[in-house]
Amino acid sequence: MDSTQYIQWFPGHMTKTKRQIEKDMKLVDAVAEIIDARIPVSSRNPDIASLTSNKPRVILLNKCDMADRNITNRWIAALSSKNIIALPVDCKSGKGIDKFVPALNTLLKNKIESYRRKGLVNPTMRVMIVGIPNVGKSTFINRIAKKNKAQTADRPGVTRGNQWFTVSKDFEILDTPGVLWPKFEDQTVGERLAFTGAIKDNIMDIELLAVRLLDLLKELKTSAFLERFKLQDEDLSLESYELLGLIAKKRGMIVRGSEPDTERASVMLLDEFRAAKLGRITLEMP
Ligand code: G4P
Repeated sequence: MDSTQYIQWFPGHMTKTKRQIEKDMKLVDAVAEIIDARIPVSSRNPDIASLTSNKPRVILLNKCDMADRNITNRWIAALSSKNIIALPVDCKSGKGIDKFVPALNTLLKNKIESYRRKGLVNPTMRVMIVGIPNVGKSTFINRIAKKNKAQTADRPGVTRGNQWFTVSKDFEILDTPGVLWPKFEDQTVGERLAFTGAIKDNIMDIELLAVRLLDLLKELKTSAFLERFKLQDEDLSLESYELLGLIAKKRGMIVRGSEPDTERASVMLLDEFRAAKLGRITLEMP
């Protein structure tokens, strides 16, 4: 995948987005960066530190219901060892979300104390959610926001602008998350984003994508993958395209009489990977 394909995918508003984030950044005390626990490297924005003006930041490894548990724990430990507060969360079920406010308290402890010393009782801290598309920003906001938007938005005479949701008595979040762009110069990153569905399939050949995914699945050999497609150990020594053909046949996906429908099988394989039906798989190690 070359960079022109990425540029096509990217909404073309990079400069505008960047400016908006920089503007909003002035209003917040901290940033919550959401990444995908299955691809903690590829789902991060390369310019995050400068974009967020080095504001205190908590990292949420979302979709951990679909990631390998042990590897997620290793990621949390690796980030903690660098003094980065990181939490595993599953916004779909809500698991782990209760740790968010305590994490903000830790993150902003010094700032809150300095406000208190200046005589400000219960200062409200403001937080902005950021992340690349599809990592679960909206899902997260819907989960944690106590909807009090109407109080500020719909009164006559109140200027429309940024809206804030209450998260707890001390914290508010900005209603619209900052949509960051992924690194789009690296082919491996692009593939991983496509595997997880963070970027659209139609930017690269679907069969090529499925073959690249099979290269990884052959190495990982998760039992869910083997059982789902009734594969034997020896099947894994096939070339990935051959294996795709075998999978197509096993699923009865045939065209022109007897040929495996590898295109349909590719769509199915990617769908099943994205739905974690091939196991809880993390593609990047700390
Ligand atoms: P965004 O704002 O960052 O762009 O992401 P959004 O919240 O729209 O979430 C993108 C997709 O990821 C949604 O699925 C959402 O349900 C799913 N998702 C978010 N968090 C989690 C999680 O922790 N675990 C799992 N398994 N999925 C999560 P969708 O297919 O676009 O919609 P739908 O299936 O919810 O209808």
